[in-house]
Amino acid sequence: MEKDQTLTIQDNRTKVTYTVPLDHGAIRAMDLRQMKTGPDDFGVMSYDPAFLNTASCRSAITFIDGDRGILRYRGYPVEVLAEKCSFLEVGYLLLWGELPTPSQMREWVDLVTHHTMIHENIKKFMDGFHHDAHPMGMLISTVAALSTFYSEARSVLDPEVRKLQILRLIGKMPTLAAHAYRHSLGLPYVYPDNELSYTENFMNMLWKKTEPKYVANTTLARALDVLFILHADHEQNCSANVMRSVGSSQADPFVTTAAAAAALSGPLHGGANEEVLRMLDEIGSKDNVPAYIKKIKEGHGRLMGFGHRVYKNYDPRARIIKKAAEEVFEVTGRNPKLDIALEVERIALSDDYFIKHKLYPNVDFYSGIIYQAMGFTPDMFTVMFAIPRTVGWLAQWQEMLQDPEQKIARPRQCYTGYGAREFVPLEQRVTQAKAA
Ligand code: CMC
Repeated sequence: MEKDQTLTIQDNRTKVTYTVPLDHGAIRAMDLRQMKTGPDDFGVMSYDPAFLNTASCRSAITFIDGDRGILRYRGYPVEVLAEKCSFLEVGYLLLWGELPTPSQMREWVDLVTHHTMIHENIKKFMDGFHHDAHPMGMLISTVAALSTFYSEARSVLDPEVRKLQILRLIGKMPTLAAHAYRHSLGLPYVYPDNELSYTENFMNMLWKKTEPKYVANTTLARALDVLFILHADHEQNCSANVMRSVGSSQADPFVTTAAAAAALSGPLHGGANEEVLRMLDEIGSKDNVPAYIKKIKEGHGRLMGFGHRVYKNYDPRARIIKKAAEEVFEVTGRNPKLDIALEVERIALSDDYFIKHKLYPNVDFYSGIIYQAMGFTPDMFTVMFAIPRTVGWLAQWQEMLQDPEQKIARPRQCYTGYGAREFVPLEQRVTQAKAA
């Protein structure tokens, strides 16, 4: 803690003055509890619905400066990592704190690769889903189901057991995702190919037909790697917070990851990339963009893929994704939705409403357009987000378990309901209770 970093707070009810330490720009909410009006007073709490201004942990994983559009993993700018690293290299960095040496990298890739297989019973489990089941629902359920295959995973305080589950989750996530995809198309599942890279193998499990060996397009495999790097972690977002919160009860990492993935699936979080494509479909053509933006400004819905709780400047990931899109389109042909998206961005960025509210394109604005050009249907987009974010969730989970200050997450509330009431037996009740 820096010297003389304190706040002095006067309690106007008692006229008592308190000096509380500031650390990393934060006071401890527990320091407020000494501020009491008498011995029976519980003490002051802080009220912060949706955690707008509450740090729930200390973390050394990801740094974001939302006003300046900066994102760094373990100190390295995401732009540099996206240009120079593979996804698994970045995964190693996020999980273990340092970039791997060549031999550490070889071992890491080998370990992850040898955990890509899933138990045959998982395939049977997947067969039970309806043909039009949403792939995200299938992914969430099957990740949770892995918990029933690895009962030792419950020993979350054992670092070796933890490491094994981390390898399993990172290895198996693309396999489950690809199986969910092929299930929705009625295609037979494809087994992992250990000779391929992480993203090439994923493409193999998605798109292999009858050829004996799948050969991935290197530009598309690299674009997937870049997209995976950009999605790998984003500090205390909704799903990371769920991962930490559920994990704080020492639930096993499979059910905990399923809970985080469930949080990701919502349209205000990872589900936004799917919604962006639906929005672009609804807009239909460049000419309709001004009318659509007007509708949004009149309060009819939100411009999906725009705005962010933390970034009040351009999301740095969106800038890299826009560049990756051009490279992908050279292989796949240009997605016609891009022109509508560019027009939405052009008009929104010069519009007073969006300027005033500091709304810029976020990571989800362009990612769906790339995924669609590669051949994915919109319902797969959030699954594509969940695969790399698993690394971030696990890094956050591991850090939380190793942090001596963390305990089971259990917020307080400001109770607004009735005081103690007298019970009235059923037959004597004349007025109807208020609906909840
Ligand atoms: N379109 C139109 N208005 C918006 C938008 C938008 N996309 N986002 C925020 N606003 C307005 C909102 O109506 C409010 O206006 P006012 O103050 O006049 O009532 C103001 O901006 C602040 O909004 P907020 O909901 O308090 O902001 P938040 O920080 O709670 O929400 C957000 C952040 C990402 C949920 C929100 O911007 C949003 O709903 N965006 C669209 C969904 C989206 O693209 N989500 C992906 C986020 S990035 C990836 C991820 O997290 O997975």
